[in-house]
Amino acid sequence: MAANIRILGFGFSLRAGSYSRIVMESAKSLLPPGAELELFDIGGIPPFNQDLDSDQPQSVKDFKAKIRGADALLIITPEYNYSIPGYLKNAMDWATRPPSDNSFDGKPTALMSSSNGMHGGSRAQYHMRQVFLFINVRAVTKPEVFLATVQDKIKDGVFVDEKGRDVIRRLLSNLVKLASEGKEK
Ligand SMILES: Cc1cc2nc3c(=O)[nH]c(=O)nc-3n(C[C@H](O)[C@H](O)[C@H](O)COP(=O)(O)O)c2cc1C
Repeated sequence: MAANIRILGFGFSLRAGSYSRIVMESAKSLLPPGAELELFDIGGIPPFNQDLDSDQPQSVKDFKAKIRGADALLIITPEYNYSIPGYLKNAMDWATRPPSDNSFDGKPTALMSSSNGMHGGSRAQYHMRQVFLFINVRAVTKPEVFLATVQDKIKDGVFVDEKGRDVIRRLLSNLVKLASEGKEK
C-alpha cells in the first residue's frame, strides 16, 4: 500500500449549504486506501495587504502551515462571474507571499470545479490552472472534473451522482500516486 498520504481540501464557498463544500466532504468516501482528507475553511482570511508580507495575519499563517503539512492539495472552485471566486484567489495570494515563502511551491495538487450552470465551472477551472503555473504546484492534469448542475446531484447532504463520483475517485487516485512518488524520493 502507498505511504499514508494526507490531503488538504479547500476552496469551497463560505455560505451555509455550499454545494462545493458538500462535494469536498463527499470526496472523503472516494479516497484510495492509505489516504486521508482534511478540510480547511478559508473564510477567516482577510483581504490581502502586501504591507503585511513580513508579519502575516494568524489565519494566513495557519493556512500556510496546513498547506506545508499536507502531502497533497485538493482544491474545489465554484465559478463566480466566469472566474475564480474572490475569497479563494485572495487566500491563495496570501499563501504565495512573500515569494521566498510560497507555501504552494512544488505541492501535488488536484482541482475540481462545480457550478449551478451547464459548464461545471470550466471557466474558473482554466483560470485556476493558469494560476497554478505561476505558483508552481505539481498539478494533476487528468481527469478534468467539471461538476455541472451540481444542485441536482446532491441528496441528503451527499454528492450522489455516480459519473461524478467516479471521476473524482480517479482524480484522487492520480493525486495520491503523484504525492507518493514525491514521498518516496
Ligand atoms: C457572485 C456569483 C457569481 C456567479 N457566477 C457564475 C458563473 O459565472 N458561472 C456559473 O456557472 N455559475 C455562477 N454562479 C452560480 C454558482 O455556480 C452557484 O451559486 C454555486 O452554487 C456556487 O457554489 P456553492 O454552492 O458552493 O456556494 C455565481 C454565483 C455567485 C454568487
